[in-house]
Amino acid sequence: MSFKRIKIDFNSNWDFYLETLKSQRKSNFSIRNFREIKNRKTVSLPHDWSIEQEFTKEYGAENESGSLPGGIGWYTKTIAKEEAEKYKEKHTELSFGGVYQRAFIFVNGVEAASNLYGYNSFSVDISQWFSVPQDVEITVLVINQLPNSRWYSGSGIYRKVFLTITDNIYIDSDGIYITAPNLSETYTGEATAEITAEAVNRGKEAILCNVKHEIYNGRGELQGEALSEKYEIAGGEKQQITTNIMILKPELWSIENPVLYTVKTKIISSNRICDECDTQYGFRWFSYSSEKGFSLNGEPLKIKGVCLHHDHGSLGAKAYTDAIRRQLEIMKDMGANAVRTAHNPASEELIDLCGRMGLLVIEEAFDTWDKSKKKYDFAYLFNKKLSGTSLNLSGAGKMTWAEFVIKSMIRRDRNSPAVFMWSLGNEIQGDNSRKTSSRLANYAEEADPYVKGGRKKIYAEDDIRAGINDKWADTIRGFSSFDKEGGSFSVAGVNYIDSGAFEQIKRDYPDIYMLSTESSSALRSRGEYFHAETVKDDYNTDTKAAENSQMSSYDNETASWANTAMFDWQYDISLDYVLGEFVWTGFDYLGEPTPFTDNAEDFYPYASYFGIADTAGFKKDIYYFYKSQWKNPQTEPVLHLLPCLHLRKEQLTEEGDVLVVAYTNADAAELKAKKHESGSEYISFGVKSFKTKKSSAGLRTYKINSDESAVYKMGLEWRVPYEKYKDYIIYADALTEENKTDLRFLKSTGRKILKRSGGAVKLSLKEYSYRFPLENSDDYTLHYITVTAEDKQGQTDSSYGGKITFEIKGQGEIIGVDNGNSCDADKKKYSEKTSINAFHGKALAIVKLKKNENAELFVRGEEITHEIEKFILLNGKNLK
Ligand code: GAL
Repeated sequence: MSFKRIKIDFNSNWDFYLETLKSQRKSNFSIRNFREIKNRKTVSLPHDWSIEQEFTKEYGAENESGSLPGGIGWYTKTIAKEEAEKYKEKHTELSFGGVYQRAFIFVNGVEAASNLYGYNSFSVDISQWFSVPQDVEITVLVINQLPNSRWYSGSGIYRKVFLTITDNIYIDSDGIYITAPNLSETYTGEATAEITAEAVNRGKEAILCNVKHEIYNGRGELQGEALSEKYEIAGGEKQQITTNIMILKPELWSIENPVLYTVKTKIISSNRICDECDTQYGFRWFSYSSEKGFSLNGEPLKIKGVCLHHDHGSLGAKAYTDAIRRQLEIMKDMGANAVRTAHNPASEELIDLCGRMGLLVIEEAFDTWDKSKKKYDFAYLFNKKLSGTSLNLSGAGKMTWAEFVIKSMIRRDRNSPAVFMWSLGNEIQGDNSRKTSSRLANYAEEADPYVKGGRKKIYAEDDIRAGINDKWADTIRGFSSFDKEGGSFSVAGVNYIDSGAFEQIKRDYPDIYMLSTESSSALRSRGEYFHAETVKDDYNTDTKAAENSQMSSYDNETASWANTAMFDWQYDISLDYVLGEFVWTGFDYLGEPTPFTDNAEDFYPYASYFGIADTAGFKKDIYYFYKSQWKNPQTEPVLHLLPCLHLRKEQLTEEGDVLVVAYTNADAAELKAKKHESGSEYISFGVKSFKTKKSSAGLRTYKINSDESAVYKMGLEWRVPYEKYKDYIIYADALTEENKTDLRFLKSTGRKILKRSGGAVKLSLKEYSYRFPLENSDDYTLHYITVTAEDKQGQTDSSYGGKITFEIKGQGEIIGVDNGNSCDADKKKYSEKTSINAFHGKALAIVKLKKNENAELFVRGEEITHEIEKFILLNGKNLK
């Protein structure tokens, strides 16, 4: 009889107990002690106990890791006997998307497996516990000993868990591998998809079986099918079966049109369909030229990427699909076409969403290799072999942790059309890096042979920094045929480049492929503006910024080793042989609050300032800079002015002027002021324009300010006397090259008008609406509600910082509140979830609502005269 595989969402109703916040190597509890605990809490996954705590300097917590504790936690969930009996004599596998940091899985009190890297997905075969009628109790012990990370990691089962039940003849987990090796030559005719399935026979007897694949397009129409020959698989063995399918003129996956096909695979034995599974695949190919850079499907494509860490602000490390979806949508909407998953394997959901949304991905395995950066990080395990119950993890064997992690990351995501490079490490700083790199590259090639011949690239970043010196030359060895010492990586990650360095490397190594795997690392706080006419890369001298622990938003403050957004982008876009850039970072992340990483007592900068958007997902001004550069004015006209007009004295220039800057993809703009909205008379501050430049191989054009003395080279700027014009309406009109009004910009993105607010009197509540439809297993949606303090006319009061209080009635749960302020004195900011101080007039509440549930969210603002605001949430439908 056929048995249809069952995938059970195993994320609700776990019992949780936090044994200690004190970082410890080992637990003082046994399973028996844990079972006796009465005050266990019921939680659902994804879960992160660190984000539920107050900010602290105890327990090994540091500014760098977000000033939140780790510790030891226990989780348990039971499958009742009646249900367990249904899976008798079947193959039952429990899979975890990610548990931070060390996880020990027990079944009915017996340690069944352990996984010691916090970011890889792993699974364990637990079939043996279903062979007799009994309750099956799963217990997970998680130990997170600090310090072990340069950013916030989170603690616990922070990604989703599934239970998969199959027949004893089944397709191995991540056991399908699809490539189209000759696609670039054949896509206009008949393209071949090469599909390998790993068929497993768990039974004692040998079997004969075939594998059948069918390929469907996005409309569900069958495009091709094939049946393999018959194979014999001995009892307890696994067999790789490769089959080819011809597809006529496949639709290609691209950034604009991410077309996905579904491959349906069946194993057939003794006329029985034993197992079947679906795999998403996208037909596309990559190519590289040392003059023209990267191409997707033969079309040159500049990589406009962002680096992202895995946390989601107030949600901590909890990998909610909707949180990831919103984050990626905000980045894609800005014009980003790629994501680098700094510095670890991403959640499966992120990779899946990138495939569906049309975002390329560099998936990264590690930060550093065997050279430790933090006392308890993964470096000590890197070259150690798996041992003890770790050997029970699926895919484990006599291999090092490095091999296990690389292979499990690649096996899981190798079919994703989005992944175009595997990064095997960030700032590896190893002494033996060349030797290690060839070993690691081999693992990658074994798991994804498509990388052979450079079709997909392997890269690792060996602390390649701006200047060229001996160390640099040593590091890049192997990326070029002009280098006598061979190497295993094929792309040089060049980060935080100095002027002239790209050209010099290119002269020395003409065939090299260079990619800015980290660019910019500029610092900014939403709504803060300082020293408008000076760009600073030494924040220690910047007392104004340091006093209130905020960074300026003019694109004029960077880490000491780094560059402004404009400098790096202008440099990248001007050289076609540079593949592109990954901005550090798309969103602010918890931890690494450079320049305040020194861990001073009673000082809690808990998030970075690098983000284009803040931890709440609110856009900083620089978002519009990137959008103006990365989006075409034909389809997405951008005109954004900064700063806001609520300025403190120290935010003006020495002459008492405001430096007004426009980020725009128009050819020119005129800045004007008028007293009243309705009046037609205005004062002009003049027309400013761009001049157009051509990139090195003539592939692209880019625009820089015609005024060579301008501070902001890729923006337009004007000086406006503040006292005289502070109560005027300042606005800009986009102009064509011929100085005519550019009508496309009548409806443009960005802040076209600057106006001082008359003081907050009301709150406006707005819900984020998702753009990409989602099919996933969740029975809930996250609703993001932005609260903005406004004056009578509906103008945002960016000086408002009052307390915003939230209350929910009906169903649903507030799972996070945020304001995007990287440095907040409130130690309970994320743990309480009932109130938060607005930051520059804004705050955010995240409500989790199950299908068909609805809720009322009541929001109050300190010193706001209007009544409480009420917002009605109905899952799937917004009533207000
Ligand atoms: C990089 C590093 C990142 C982050 C960044 C800040 O060198 O890879 O993890 O620390 O610097 O600028």
